[in-house]
Amino acid sequence: MDISIKYGLPEQQKSACVILGIFERRKLSPAAEKMDQACGGDLQKILKSGDIEGKAEQSLMLHNVNGCACERILLIGCGKEKNFDDSAYRKALKTASAALLKSGARDAVNFLTELKLAEHSSGWKIRQAVEIIEYSRYRPDHLKSKKDSEPKLHKIVLAISDADELKSAKQGLAIGRAIAHGSALTRELGNLPGNICTPTYLAAQAAKLGKQSEQLKVRALGQKQMETLGMGALLSVAKGSRQPPKLIEMNYQGGKKTDKPIILVGKGITFDSGGISIKPSAAMDEMKYDMCGAASVIGAMAAISELQLPLNVIAVIPSCENLPDGAASKPGDIVTSMSGQTIEVLNTDAEGRLILCDALTYSEKFKPKAVIDVATLTGACVIALGKHACGLLSNDERLAQLLLDAGEDSGDRAWKMPLWNEYDEQLKSNFADMANIGGREAGTITAACFLARFSKNFKWAHLDIAGVAWEGGSNKGATGRPVALLTQYLLNQCGKNYQLS
Ligand code: BES
Ligand code: MN
Ligand code: ZN
Repeated sequence: MDISIKYGLPEQQKSACVILGIFERRKLSPAAEKMDQACGGDLQKILKSGDIEGKAEQSLMLHNVNGCACERILLIGCGKEKNFDDSAYRKALKTASAALLKSGARDAVNFLTELKLAEHSSGWKIRQAVEIIEYSRYRPDHLKSKKDSEPKLHKIVLAISDADELKSAKQGLAIGRAIAHGSALTRELGNLPGNICTPTYLAAQAAKLGKQSEQLKVRALGQKQMETLGMGALLSVAKGSRQPPKLIEMNYQGGKKTDKPIILVGKGITFDSGGISIKPSAAMDEMKYDMCGAASVIGAMAAISELQLPLNVIAVIPSCENLPDGAASKPGDIVTSMSGQTIEVLNTDAEGRLILCDALTYSEKFKPKAVIDVATLTGACVIALGKHACGLLSNDERLAQLLLDAGEDSGDRAWKMPLWNEYDEQLKSNFADMANIGGREAGTITAACFLARFSKNFKWAHLDIAGVAWEGGSNKGATGRPVALLTQYLLNQCGKNYQLS
């Protein structure tokens, strides 16, 4: 998609479509006001006819309005002006993208980016617009022999109300593009089925990214190397499957040699049947998404490589399938993790923590500045937070706050939960150092308590993305979250005054 920035008057845009905001009730935004004057008050007249009030999610397409240079005007309801905030702005952009993609317009100029938002630069507004347009355009039809109908739209111009904003807007455009590309890759990997997106496939996709960027080196450890390292927990999950496990390592060196790396660990279960503790069959297909932690880490690595951030970041991705088999782990089996701690596997469906714990121990060798793991870890998190925020648990208050802030800022939010000792006690086992489950209560927290036992030697945070990584229902598909949160956090790590080159 061709996306650019322009400073100009709405009535002078020779475009297939000009997009303008309308507040409740029938109040013209400043750009709509200008357009109205140019067309002799026709917009006001149309509003009076009652077709659009300006409520959120309303839209109205007008054709051949007199006095303006464009073919169409798309009016977008923005809700009450005094309530116009980040989420109202994003909603307006989503409504506009949906209406535009349904229309026959081949190009458009979007003036929603000129709407005033307290505390946000035009760079931020542009970036959100880019992310939302690219998000709306995506169709998961790669594996359909006949593609879904292609939208006509191929070019969009984002308006700024002052030429002074150009520099900030350009930064926003670059960041928005990088996040959009990263999140599209994450969605693509997430949507691929388990028979195609295997651990080997994931490793190949990561390697492909490595070939595209000089700063990014990619390798993958196989079963033999995992055995040598003593990754008994990871291997205990992998052994029920005929697909070889992989530990993918993506090393991005954008900073100084001496800068400590930030590590992103992503859960890469390419299919989770539950193993011997098998899951019910209803909606089991959705467990192809159990590699979305891995996919979002790969997406974030793609985004920071595109932006060439001056940081050192390493992705560590344990990947395998969780299947029932004669060789699979059985409930009650006791395994020894790479850390030396022993684990009683009371439920083979709590496999995510088993592969992550060895990846966390492995991460220690990089002497990390911080380690953040991302995982579709617990169904309990879907119940607790739904699809609006991922769960955040951390052994470091500052790191937790940085991630919460990055979530707010990017619109890809997280919510903090407690990691108290009282919860950790639920992991007690009579036969091993710990059990891999902590009972029915507080499932998201006890899963994190388990991981915390392998993260004592560094600053660590855990993002449980089970509720946000994909959508069910008619819009079924991966969402690309939390690529925006991760990329924002990493951008913020570049320092307050950092400007993209
Ligand atoms: N991948 C699942 C978590 C999951 C479940 C994500 C449903 C999204 C929707 C994970 O491996 C799992 O099975 N967790 C169990 C843990 C339990 C056995 C302690 C769960 O949440 O039921
Ligand atoms: Mn499971
Ligand atoms: Zn799982």
